[in-house]
Amino acid sequence: MPRLYDFHPESIPAPYYHTNIDSEEVLYYVDGDFMSRTGIEAGSMTLHKKGVPHGPQPGKTEASIGKTETYEYAVMIDTFNPLKTTNHFRDCMENDYNQSWLED
Ligand SMILES: [Fe+2]
Repeated sequence: MPRLYDFHPESIPAPYYHTNIDSEEVLYYVDGDFMSRTGIEAGSMTLHKKGVPHGPQPGKTEASIGKTETYEYAVMIDTFNPLKTTNHFRDCMENDYNQSWLED
């Protein structure tokens, strides 16, 4: 939801890299400017499986410095049971998503 970022003068607004060790993470991007992500638009969904490190893509942490607020709308669900992907999911999947963390 729209919100202010951490306001400490030395804070870094972008989220930090992390690995969910006991849940899988689904994000549905509804509307707004998704500051930490490249290639994400309204209607996109991401799935980060349990144990997979993820965080801002290259340049997004630096670009977030000095930002004070966000107007993004998204829904995040952490599941504590593993998700199974369907054929439809696999048909819609962007196969190069995992490459979006590589720098040019
Ligand atoms: Fe996450």
